[in-house]
Amino acid sequence: MDIISLKDTSNKLFYVGGVVRDELLGIKSLDVDIVYEGNAIEDCSEFGELVRVNPDFGTIRVKLNPHPNFSHFQDENGEILPSPGGRGDTVVDIASTRTETYPLKGHLPVVDKIGVSLKEDVMRRDFTVNSLYKSVSTGEIFDFTGGLEDLKNKIIRVLHDESFVDDPTRIIRALKFSHRFGFILDARTRALRDEYLQNINYDMCFKRVKKELIETLGLNSDELFKEFIESGIYKLVTPNRVQVPSTTIKNLISQYAPESENIWLIYAGILRDLTRIELTRKEQKILDDFAALENSGLNDDFAIYKAFDGKEIESIILFAVLCDEKLARHYLDDLRGIKIATTGKHLEEAGFEPSPKYKEIFDFLLNKKLKNPKMTLENEMALVKEFF
Ligand code: CTP
Repeated sequence: MDIISLKDTSNKLFYVGGVVRDELLGIKSLDVDIVYEGNAIEDCSEFGELVRVNPDFGTIRVKLNPHPNFSHFQDENGEILPSPGGRGDTVVDIASTRTETYPLKGHLPVVDKIGVSLKEDVMRRDFTVNSLYKSVSTGEIFDFTGGLEDLKNKIIRVLHDESFVDDPTRIIRALKFSHRFGFILDARTRALRDEYLQNINYDMCFKRVKKELIETLGLNSDELFKEFIESGIYKLVTPNRVQVPSTTIKNLISQYAPESENIWLIYAGILRDLTRIELTRKEQKILDDFAALENSGLNDDFAIYKAFDGKEIESIILFAVLCDEKLARHYLDDLRGIKIATTGKHLEEAGFEPSPKYKEIFDFLLNKKLKNPKMTLENEMALVKEFF
């Protein structure tokens, strides 16, 4: 099976990483990484129109065009196909083979040399199963690290002892891949992970940590989260102690927020301390809404309704996990759908001048309706006339 219809007569283009791994596992890949054995900036501009060049990393993005040597993404009829990354256009990223070092551990690496051999390029990668190259022209697989054997045996293994010190986000990546594929960490890799977690250097790039948290916790798995806590991986985010919640978080999410883009934050919120992670406004609102819920005195349905109304669903789920599941479910299942039928227009028609009194009337009606959800508009207006 060809990964994509990319033709290469230079013999120097290789698929690498997830795309090769996933093809061998027989699953659909999320994106396609291509590496050029050499300096892509110098040699690859003829592949198509250069859309972007990153000289620091030796990567290029090209908009493909038919070429005598490189007829990328063409089908049998010469038709240009959409890019494999699913971006809906015909662009592809090509990286140069390179060596990297980590002068600042835990931060972005610095490129040492561009245009090295595949065998040298491989050492900057995270795990053996992510270090397989597949020649675009011949389909031959190049395995310098035992990745094929580990793939067969379902093992996640780092390439060298400094791997997690260089890039601690790989600890989260190992968790992600192990749960996604049902793999286990080899003993040495696990020991290196545990050693790092005993002695974390918090001067690291938390942007990368966040990216991995989104992908990993976003898998929405209670088992994964349990391991995230029990093996101490969470300590990458906060040194504070965290316990595994007794609630099945996945069930709550499936029931109340299956489409949420912030599933990761429901899990991450359980750590309570996300001060190191830069959050978007929406993400911050989720945490703020949760904090407001946690601190509200909720002694009757009216207070519950008022506290929960308008709060982000992720915040309510977080409340269910950390504070009171029964109460959160009571709001979501029984109260949330209750709305009074009376509007300002009805009050105006009944002779009430628009004023702050309206709010008082609406709250009065809501209070009554929470006790008797079957109330009709007529019932409500009768009450208004009786009490105001
Ligand atoms: N990589 C790495 N260390 C990281 C991130 C990435 O060594 N912290 C390397 C790995 O070789 C990886 C490749 O870069 O395979 C591409 O990274 P990415 O797209 O994040 O992962 P994939 O392996 O493609 O997996 P996914 O299916 O999640 O995209």
